[in-house]
Amino acid sequence: MIAIAAVNEKGYIGKGGDLLYSIKEDMRYFASVTREKTLIMGRKTLLSLPGGKGLKGRKNIVLSRSMKKEEAEERGVYLAKDVGEVLSLLTFLGVSEEEAFVIGGGEVYSLLMPYCKTLLLTRVHSFEEGDVSFPEIPADFSLIKGEEKSENGVSFRFDKYVR
Ligand SMILES: NC(=O)c1ccc[n+]([C@@H]2O[C@H](COP(=O)([O-])OP(=O)(O)OC[C@H]3O[C@@H](n4cnc5c(N)ncnc54)[C@H](OP(=O)(O)O)[C@@H]3O)[C@@H](O)[C@H]2O)c1
Repeated sequence: MIAIAAVNEKGYIGKGGDLLYSIKEDMRYFASVTREKTLIMGRKTLLSLPGGKGLKGRKNIVLSRSMKKEEAEERGVYLAKDVGEVLSLLTFLGVSEEEAFVIGGGEVYSLLMPYCKTLLLTRVHSFEEGDVSFPEIPADFSLIKGEEKSENGVSFRFDKYVR
């Protein structure tokens, strides 16, 4: 699996159920990298997406113990009650490891970190407080730093970690 996230200098990824930043270039990067791929997310992240629905042009798997199957269908997502069901769904859908993107949030990044071989982290050089963090990156990942970029006064970098 591949995890993709925007993380600030304090390790935060979200606040009040929403993202901390709205960087157009990062959104375009996310859209192009995940196009036609399969996304895996937690229920709270699904609810933060436009209309609370799965993203178009991608298969969407939501992890939730509380959501009913009917609701998942209405929201255009496959429902997984635990990690085992995520893995079964990926097999059922014929999705390879490189096509499965973990898109958050904090709980689900932590849960699926052991399955991730690559991390695509947009490092936002900013120090806002948040209430949800990206987990600690295990020591067996090595970092390939991207080039520094900036948009509307916010600077950031597309980093890649590989195991
Ligand atoms: N910066 C970024 O790149 C980025 C990306 C994504 C999200 N975010 C932000 O992250 C925040 C949301 O993250 P979060 O950690 O609060 O929530 P989350 O990971 O999106 O979702 C948590 C939910 O996932 C389900 N879940 C978690 N572990 C599970 C398990 N083992 N089995 C089954 N279901 C499981 C539970 O749903 P039930 O309660 O239904 O059981 C849990 O309440 C928001 O602020 C969002 O904007 C940021």
